[in-house]
Amino acid sequence: MLQSTLKLKQNAVIQVDGDKSISHRAVLFSALAKGQSRIEGFLEAEDPLNTMRSFSKLGVNYRKVFHGIYEVKSPGKTNLQSPKEILDFGNAGTGIRLSAGLLAGLPNVSATLTGDESLRKRPMKRIIDPLNQMGANVHSQNNDGKAPLIIHGKQLKDFTYESPLSSAQVKSCLMLAAISSNVCLEYKETELSRNHTENIFQFLGGKIIYKSTTHFKIEPPYNFSGTNFRIPGDISSAAFFIVLALLSKKGKLLIENIGLNPARIGILKVLKDMGAEINILNQRNECGEKIGDLEILPSELKRVQIQKDLIPSIIDEIPILTIAGLFSQDGFCIRYAEDLRAKESDRIHSMVVNLRKLGINVEEYNDGYEFGEVKTIKPTVIESFMDHRIAMSFLILKKLLSENIQIDDESWILTSFPNFHKLLNTLCAI
Ligand code: S3P
Repeated sequence: MLQSTLKLKQNAVIQVDGDKSISHRAVLFSALAKGQSRIEGFLEAEDPLNTMRSFSKLGVNYRKVFHGIYEVKSPGKTNLQSPKEILDFGNAGTGIRLSAGLLAGLPNVSATLTGDESLRKRPMKRIIDPLNQMGANVHSQNNDGKAPLIIHGKQLKDFTYESPLSSAQVKSCLMLAAISSNVCLEYKETELSRNHTENIFQFLGGKIIYKSTTHFKIEPPYNFSGTNFRIPGDISSAAFFIVLALLSKKGKLLIENIGLNPARIGILKVLKDMGAEINILNQRNECGEKIGDLEILPSELKRVQIQKDLIPSIIDEIPILTIAGLFSQDGFCIRYAEDLRAKESDRIHSMVVNLRKLGINVEEYNDGYEFGEVKTIKPTVIESFMDHRIAMSFLILKKLLSENIQIDDESWILTSFPNFHKLLNTLCAI
């Protein structure tokens, strides 16, 4: 298997940028809540900033106080206005899908929602169909089930939905539609997807009636007032540095203040099964979320079987887990992950193309890919496919091997992790 010669700074301590999923939700819930809110730890990256810019066009005032700290004044959900311009969510599936739900349930608000070339290729039928069954008026401008989405907000009806997908974006879209329209939602999913929307909803005083972990009901009233949101570091961003520290030859790394929502920490479970030494320290709760610090030590990794029920909790970490797989005894295999094809890029295709460019013999499946133990790789130019996580994963590989690997376009990293390069350079500067 591949071996790294990288030595990290001894006993380094870092903090990564704020959680992207929670940053989007803090923008949306502070728009729903009448009055003043404060958001701390907000991820100032293109994706959540686009959500913030969009809601400021509906009449919400977001004032930057300091880096990552915003004061929000909202007129409340019933006073949001139709924007004069098209709302552009850039690269962000979470931004467009969650906002579509919120706007669909607001009578008197009409809007067109779009995004960049990558976002306009992503499937929107997964939200259009259930929203319209709920009584909404949402359609795809080109009738192809993709963005631009045209929304004429309406009073929606009570709704029961059994989702064929385990998707937090679909779940949150329908929850926000129910909240903005003051109706009941009963929702069931196959596996538990990240539950940040449920957590914020409860933090604001909403009541959830659970029938099982994957089946719940919410009922009005939903009269939220402004509050303080504190957002922890993003485990999906930390994942790049966890893998870097595990595979380097020397150096213990501490990553402070990381969100440890049980539906997000599949990466820790899989890496630990692979042989990683990762310790969770200083666990606490904040704003309805579990958080803590992570201590990572250099470790030897081996191949493991990743079970189907873990997929939703590692869905965004599969590219960087694959990089760990290049350094694992017996290689790596991921299956049951067909929804990877609907991310910022078709991540099965993006990973297979780039791994093959590195000279690795990869078997591609509909729902994943597999390779055996890797001995060497060859220099190449990696294609980022407009996908931040593809670019960052291969930059970690480049650092670990000091090889001649180039990335065609690193700018996508700004959509989710503006401090990535700075942290990477600080950690490796010895
Ligand atoms: C997200 C949910 C996931 C994840 C995405 C963020 C969210 O998408 O991949 O990066 O914030 O709700 P799906 O809900 O489509 O699985």
